[in-house]
Amino acid sequence: MAEAEAPERRGGGTEEIAFEEAGLRYEVDGEIATITLNRPGKRNAQTFATWSALAGIGENLPERVRVVVVKGEGPSFSAGIDLRMFTPEGVPGQGSFGSVARQDSDSLDRRIEQAQQGFLWLRRPEIVSIAAVQGHAIGAGFQLALACDLRIVADDVRFCMKEPALGLVPDLTGTKPLVELVGLAKAIDLCLTARVVEAQEAYRIGLAEQVVAPAELARAAHDKAAQLLSTNRDAAVATKRLLQGARLRTLEEQSAAERTEQAARLRALFAGS
Ligand code: ACO
Repeated sequence: MAEAEAPERRGGGTEEIAFEEAGLRYEVDGEIATITLNRPGKRNAQTFATWSALAGIGENLPERVRVVVVKGEGPSFSAGIDLRMFTPEGVPGQGSFGSVARQDSDSLDRRIEQAQQGFLWLRRPEIVSIAAVQGHAIGAGFQLALACDLRIVADDVRFCMKEPALGLVPDLTGTKPLVELVGLAKAIDLCLTARVVEAQEAYRIGLAEQVVAPAELARAAHDKAAQLLSTNRDAAVATKRLLQGARLRTLEEQSAAERTEQAARLRALFAGS
């Protein structure tokens, strides 16, 4: 068997990203990229720098990467937005919500859109993203887990959509996957009460694919990545594209989409034979 490729500290093109300021660690090992929220002392609280670095990783993701694992160092996956954002001083070098709120509408919209870029790319058909979630996943932390295709959780997980309790809405691309995963009524319940969802409920309502002991979380994410890598790459991309579009299409449209994708697969598989 070929020797495993030594993990790279970073993927190509990401040298300019301020990982430390963002509170992130990033490694690419062959076809797997791992993003680690890495401010455990602050429960992996997120800032504008975190979201901008996440977007940078997405923009520079090496083509060979098929699986992206998102995890958090320490006892919590992420305690959500850095609460210093709510203070007049804000986060040094990044401002505060107060300063952002005073911007004109276009600038404010752009600022939020920039933050969302850190989350949107995790759904690309070319990759499967796995959130490995332990402890608290609050607000932006919950939404980061929701941005991933799959969630494997430790049995101590505590999801909480806290934004409405703070006078905000969840705006980091989390509302759509939440509704799609748990349904509208449950999503309203979770968001408008800001209550905590623990592991067994998360599994029961479809927020988590798998629940494991905290000590098994890294292994479980790795095993899932290995399973995902065992299928044909191009077929996996085409199938994810089909599945993602299924909800938006009628049965007839979806059947047509299946034919189109399969025709391309068959041509590729039997080219030259
Ligand atoms: N922003 C900044 N610092 C934080 C945050 C945060 N969101 N969460 C925790 N910290 C810091 C604490 O201030 C503390 O720092 P210190 O040691 O310098 O005093 C350190 O992380 C540890 O926090 P504890 O509260 O001691 O850790 P514990 O494990 O007991 O509790 C918990 C964890 C439940 C996550 C708690 O810290 C908490 O409730 N944090 C705030 C969660 C929150 O309201 N997030 C905003 C959600 S809304 C959104 O994301 C848009």
